[in-house]
Amino acid sequence: MTANFDQVLAADAIVVGSGIAGLTAAIELAPLRVIVLSKGEVADGSTPYAQGGIAAAVGGDDSPAWHASDTLEVGGGLNDETAVEVLTGEGPARVTDLIARGVAFDRNEDGSLMLGREAGHDTRRILHADGDATGAEIARALVAVARASENIQIVDHAFAADLVVDAGRVVGLTARIGLNIQVLLNAPAVVLATGGVGRLYANTTNPPPVTGDGLAMAARAGARLRDIEFVQFHPTALASGRDPMSLLTEALRGEGAVLLDDQGRRFMVDVHEDAELAPRDVVARANWRVIQDGGKVFLDATTAVGAAFPTRFPTVFGLCMEDGIDPRKEPMPAAPAAHYHMGGIATDLGGRSSLPGLWAVGETARTGVHGANRLASNSLLEGAVFGHRAALDIEAAGMGNGVGIAALRAAEAPGLEPDPQPDVISELRDLMWARVGLIRHHTGLMSALEEIDRLGEKIEPGVSVGANMVAVARMIASAALLRTESRGGHYRTDFPETTRWWDRPVVVNS
Ligand code: FAD
Ligand code: SIN
Repeated sequence: MTANFDQVLAADAIVVGSGIAGLTAAIELAPLRVIVLSKGEVADGSTPYAQGGIAAAVGGDDSPAWHASDTLEVGGGLNDETAVEVLTGEGPARVTDLIARGVAFDRNEDGSLMLGREAGHDTRRILHADGDATGAEIARALVAVARASENIQIVDHAFAADLVVDAGRVVGLTARIGLNIQVLLNAPAVVLATGGVGRLYANTTNPPPVTGDGLAMAARAGARLRDIEFVQFHPTALASGRDPMSLLTEALRGEGAVLLDDQGRRFMVDVHEDAELAPRDVVARANWRVIQDGGKVFLDATTAVGAAFPTRFPTVFGLCMEDGIDPRKEPMPAAPAAHYHMGGIATDLGGRSSLPGLWAVGETARTGVHGANRLASNSLLEGAVFGHRAALDIEAAGMGNGVGIAALRAAEAPGLEPDPQPDVISELRDLMWARVGLIRHHTGLMSALEEIDRLGEKIEPGVSVGANMVAVARMIASAALLRTESRGGHYRTDFPETTRWWDRPVVVNS
C-alpha cells in the first residue's frame, strides 16, 4: 500500500479539522504528537464566522440545570439527557479554559462577563467577543496556542480522503496535500472535526470547506451515523446575493430587532407567542412562507439597536455597509439559510464513534446534545466540551505510538481542494435547497433521491469533495424520507405532526 504514496508518516493522533472542536482536542492532546489537517488555511471552517457567541451558565442567577432545561425544550425530545447535562455542567469550566487560552470575551465596566440573549434561552447567558465577532476571536486564540505547541503540527491545504481500517479498527487515513502530494498517515487515534454540511445547500451561511467530508469518510468506513435528517436553517441571513450568505445574528432579535414583511407588518406575533424569539425552526419556516408567497422579509433593528450598531454588532454592520445597507437607518433584507447540522457521527460521551480508533467532535459529531434542533450558541460550546472530552478519552486509552513526527511536506501547489465539477455541485445544491430543505414531502424527497443518483453518475470516480457531497446528500434525503413526521429542523407537509412512534433515531450503518 505504501508504494502509492509520496510520504508515509506516523503520529500519536491525527485531527481532521481546525475549528473550535479540532483545535481544542489537539491542544488537550498535545503531550502526545498530533497532526492537524485542514482543507484550506487553518481555521477555515464555520468557527471564525460565529457571531452571537457561546452559551454557558456563568451568570449569577443562572445554573447548568436551567441551561439544560432550555436545551431540552428546543431539542424535540431526541436529546440524550446525559449528554446535555455534560454540556451544560462542564460548559463554565471550558469557558474558563478559553479565557485562559487568551479569548477576550466582552466585559461590563465592572469587569464581569457581558451576557447576551438569544432565542430559546430563558435568560442572558451568551458570552461574546468584539460584539459579534466571537468565533473569530476564539479561532485567533486557539490557533495561537496550537501554533505555539511543539507537539502539534498544523498542515494547511490538506484534504483528508479516506480512513484506513485494519481488522475493524481505524489506524490512520489517506490525504492529499495541495494538489499533488499523496500521503498515508498512521495513528492509533483519528479525530474527525470536519464541521457541518451547509455547502450542500444553495443558500447557506457556511464557508466552502464545510461539505460534510467527515460524514462521508465515516460512513464509507462503516461508522454509525445518527439524526442526519435534522438540518437547522437560520431564519435571518442577509439577502444580498453573497455565497456564503452573511449572517444577521440572532442576538439582534435578542436585543429587540423585529421581523417585518414588505407591508411593514410584524408577522411573527401571529405565528408564535415568543414572536421573533420563537424557536429557530419556527421563525425560519415563517420567513420561508412569506418569501414563497412572493413577499420579502426584513429584519428591522433601527429602533432596538440604531446608533449603537457599529459598536454592538460591528461584524454585521460592516457586512451590511459593504452591501450598501445602513442597518442604523433601514431594515435589512433577510432570508433563511442552511446553517447547522444536528446529526452526524454517533459518539459516546468521550467522543468515541462506533469504530475503534475513531473519534468525532464538534458539528460533525452526533453527541446527543442537540436532538432535533439546536439551541442557539450551543455549538461552539459543544466543540469546546467534547473536544476536551475526546482528548481525555484518547489519553486514558493509552493511545500513542511514542514516535516523533517528521514534518509533513508543505503543499507544492496550495489551494482549496478544487470543486471538481462545479455545474454538478451547483445543481446538487439547488436540488437540496428546493426539496430537502426547510419544507419536505414524500414526492419531493423521492424525486430528489432520483436526481441525486443521476448527479452521482456524473461525478468522476474516486474520492473527491463532489463524491462526498453526493454521498451525504443521499443519506440526508433518505433519512428525511424515512422520518414520516415533523420535529425540530425536519418538517414534512405530508406528516406535519410529531408522533411518539418517532421518538427514535434514524441510524445509518446500524
Ligand atoms: P468548523 O469550524 O466548521 O471546522 C471544520 C474544519 O474541518 C475546517 O478546518 C475544514 O477545513 C476541515 N475539514 C473539513 N473537511 C476536511 C477534509 N476532508 N480534510 C481536511 N480538513 C477538512 N455557533 C455558536 O455556538 N454560536 C454562534 O454564534 C454561531 N454563529 C455562527 C455563525 C455562522 C455564520 C456560522 C456558519 C455558524 C455559526 N455557529 C455558531 C455554528 C458554529 O460556528 C459551528 O457549528 C462550529 O464552529 C463548528 O466547529 P467545528 O470545529 O465542528 O467545525
Ligand atoms: C447567531 O449568531 O445567530 C448564530 C448563533 C448560533 O448559530 O448558535
